[in-house]
Amino acid sequence: MQCTKVSGAADQLLDPAAAAWASVPPETLTMSATPLANQPSEYIKASRDEKQIGKCRSLEVQAAHNGNDVFFRLSWGDESENNKEVIDTNMFPDGCGILMPIGGGDTPIEEMGSKDVPVNAWFWRANYKQDEARNTIAHGLGSTEFSKKSPIRARGAWQQGKWSVVFTRPLSVPELQQEAVQLAVGKTVKVGFAVWEGGSGERAGVKSFSKEWRELALEA
Ligand code: HEM
Repeated sequence: MQCTKVSGAADQLLDPAAAAWASVPPETLTMSATPLANQPSEYIKASRDEKQIGKCRSLEVQAAHNGNDVFFRLSWGDESENNKEVIDTNMFPDGCGILMPIGGGDTPIEEMGSKDVPVNAWFWRANYKQDEARNTIAHGLGSTEFSKKSPIRARGAWQQGKWSVVFTRPLSVPELQQEAVQLAVGKTVKVGFAVWEGGSGERAGVKSFSKEWRELALEA
């Protein structure tokens, strides 16, 4: 997967409708249900049917950088816009996330990393305030922690049955060595994606995800 070099400023590209996105080639990924066997909650295991998990089956991803900041634009079809904190006991806000191992090395994407090689997840939810996104780190299933400070911004727009969400962050975040992946032009990084269809009761471990790591190359 290519992370295309662009010249736009972060504030410009953060807009999912920015014209600059037209020149960044999209890649379509097949999304799968998170396996019930990997759910740490016995309640989830007992009450969910894997066939009903993962409403989003196809995700379009565009990746770009301007030398200082990296950008991901995620788009997927969703007939209902769920953007309230609490909608119903079985309905949650829509959301999406990006996963990258911290410090290189291989680590299981289907278990959100391991004790030895943690993962950094970038998280956007439709009920977050404008431009808010959270930084999380996980050392395997059931270990997700939210950082106090997030260097990530994200903006989502729902239009005619489709979400488009842009994430951005400085390539390098030296103040967050332990909690965030460090990116650099000319290097590659493993990347994975997740989508929560809140209207179908998806949240936390119940979502769709890209089953295999993709190697993202940051164009020099
Ligand atoms: C590859 C893409 C993935 C991304 C980007 C991702 C991202 C995230 C994020 C941001 C959270 C916190 C969300 C919240 O609190 O609502 C979370 C929680 C969680 N995720 Fe993932 N995830 C991925 C794959 C998976 C897979 C394959 C599983 C397997 C079942 C899984 C299981 C969980 C569980 C159980 C939680 C609840 C919190 C915890 O127990 O740690 N995730 N994930």
